[in-house]
Amino acid sequence: MFQINDKVAWIGKIDWELRRFHGDEYSTHRGSSYNSYLIQDQKTVLIDTVWTPFAKEYITNLKKTTDLKRIDYIIVNHSEVDHSGALPELMRLIPETPIICTENGAKLLKAHYHEDWKMIAVKTGDTLDLGENKLYFVEARMLHWPDSMMTYLTGEGILFSNDAFGQHFASEHMYNDKVDPSELYQEALKYYANILTPFSALVTKKIEELLSLKIPVSMICPSHGVIWREDPLQIVNQYIKWAKGYKENQVTILYDTMWNATRTMAESIAAGIKEKDNNVTIKIFNCSHTDKNDIITEIFKSRMVVMGSSTINRGILSALAAILEMTKGLGFKKKKAAVFGSYGWSGESTKIIAETLSASGFEVVNEGLKLLWTPDEEGIGKCKTFGNELADTINAQLP
Ligand code: FEO
Repeated sequence: MFQINDKVAWIGKIDWELRRFHGDEYSTHRGSSYNSYLIQDQKTVLIDTVWTPFAKEYITNLKKTTDLKRIDYIIVNHSEVDHSGALPELMRLIPETPIICTENGAKLLKAHYHEDWKMIAVKTGDTLDLGENKLYFVEARMLHWPDSMMTYLTGEGILFSNDAFGQHFASEHMYNDKVDPSELYQEALKYYANILTPFSALVTKKIEELLSLKIPVSMICPSHGVIWREDPLQIVNQYIKWAKGYKENQVTILYDTMWNATRTMAESIAAGIKEKDNNVTIKIFNCSHTDKNDIITEIFKSRMVVMGSSTINRGILSALAAILEMTKGLGFKKKKAAVFGSYGWSGESTKIIAETLSASGFEVVNEGLKLLWTPDEEGIGKCKTFGNELADTINAQLP
């Protein structure tokens, strides 16, 4: 526990050990935190809790900060178990305490826990008088669940944004001005790329709505990672950029390979791009050796993605297939793509990759390049020429 100011305390759990989140779907190289906040005004309000495995520890710590019976309301900004997981344990101790959430939040809490807790549904613009200050609720539907909500504390100017503006980033220093900014930026970007990309249009709309309220924001307190205290709107401005088809001057080449023929193609294509354009950042990853969420983050940053696989059993290799499946769901916008691969007899891989990328919203720029068996000098030359052509396409796209 630590005090954020006179009225607000952080009561959460820093999870240094966490390396996988959402089951196995999201890698957390730097751990995470589950942030819960206690507001002690004339009324006492708890905002969110922690993930289920830490429920007992959380309640022990909460009891050291307040008598549980003093809690007048529990705000559930989002019902996902990483934030609501301690509720069953807590509600056993204070069963009459009302839970404030959105209408969808009430449905989802019921669906998760099957309990008859007293719930008060709120919508955007509803307020709760705490005595000196008020809470103002802002629904944030599909950012990233149907129940998501943000809560703003007037007077103190604190936005409790839940998942939005969060990062899976464990730190003993819970403020943005106390941590390495490049590590923080990397985790915030990865979080956006892997979780919020599909909802980018809604991100833009919600931020415009928040900014139109012209409310002072002294701090943004998300439910994961550090609190944005120094220049808190920097992350809001960053989200505005990320939500608008963000890309850097980068080409990411992704491949999977059986006996290195497709790898040789990947590296030769990269050499061909570099021959024509020495400024573009080229990154090459073997999908079967690289963390899939890190790959998604690199795709997010790219103007163009070049994907290759050997053909196996008339299909593609499974590590690249996993990345394709993820990109389909994430719905990247305004990105170009090209495909390549080596084959021995049937050679379906390039067609499969191109069709999947196209169906996922990428602009596939040409037919792709497929080579029989291991590339010889001539094959390597074809890869370089292919790379030269891609460089021209990338440059044609530059503003
Ligand atoms: Fe951090 Fe959507 O839960």
